[in-house]
Amino acid sequence: MEIIDEGLNLIQDLSGQKIVLFGGTGSVGEGILRSYLKTNAKIIVPSRSEKSKDKLLEILGEVGNSKNLEFIIGDYSTFQSAEEMAELITDQYGSIDHVIACVGGWWIGGPFWTVSEEAWQNQFVGLATTHAALAKAWIPRLSRENSYQIISGSSGTHPVAKSGIVSMQHASLIMMAEVIALEAASEKRVFVFVLGVVNSRNRPAHKPYWITAEQVGMVSSILAKENSIPSQVIKLSDKAALPGVLDILEKEIEK
Ligand SMILES: NC(=O)c1ccc[n+]([C@@H]2O[C@H](COP(=O)([O-])OP(=O)(O)OC[C@H]3O[C@@H](n4cnc5c(N)ncnc54)[C@H](OP(=O)(O)O)[C@@H]3O)[C@@H](O)[C@H]2O)c1
Repeated sequence: MEIIDEGLNLIQDLSGQKIVLFGGTGSVGEGILRSYLKTNAKIIVPSRSEKSKDKLLEILGEVGNSKNLEFIIGDYSTFQSAEEMAELITDQYGSIDHVIACVGGWWIGGPFWTVSEEAWQNQFVGLATTHAALAKAWIPRLSRENSYQIISGSSGTHPVAKSGIVSMQHASLIMMAEVIALEAASEKRVFVFVLGVVNSRNRPAHKPYWITAEQVGMVSSILAKENSIPSQVIKLSDKAALPGVLDILEKEIEK
């Protein structure tokens, strides 16, 4: 796979497919969405608030006017609401091809022994529950041709001081994906992205070596397109990791 234009030339054509992108209103989700808007797929972004949707549309400007972009407003953070949201989406759009869970964010507080119960509930329990609820709702609805993709971070594999609950939450997410992949064997395709800092709107430093959210979307579109690629962990700590990841995926496609 030849990388031109930072790899965005590798965004796949997914005409006729339907993608659900949880967290599409967030900063990493926005970049993933921008890449998917180039795939010709229909993209459905569930959001818990009208305000987040409006903010995203303001940021996207013209790009947000795409006929392929749809929103559904409602909660998806509990087992019940995630299941109801999945029912609503499939009633409205029919079967879904790919689901991306880019839900969460960053938290910095203090050493682990100073963490408040509120922060623990929000940043660990709440997010772990949301991801579990989404996986429970969607994995049964997806087949081997489809994909379930989770966005996690390298703080799940490398401890980050004063952000311990995010590190723990990322680690649990990576393990959740690996457990589901093991249990589903060849019946499903489950991926987890382990990302370093992402060049996106909430990271104003924009270091040139950070992976961009659009590049994450590009890799995600390859996973969606090529159903010979089996479940795996996608480690993108920075831009330098991109050629290695693309090589691995290419070898899976050629097998
Ligand atoms: N930013 C980075 O540099 C970076 C690096 C590595 C990994 N990641 C991972 O990428 C994912 C997205 O991060 P981000 O920076 O895009 O975060 P963000 O800008 O805060 O967006 C997070 C999105 O998650 C959704 N969400 C659902 N439940 C949530 C909850 N309980 N708390 C917070 N958000 C919730 C929100 O969507 P609605 O409100 O519209 O429902 C929101 O749009 C996270 O898993 C994060 O750990 C980010």
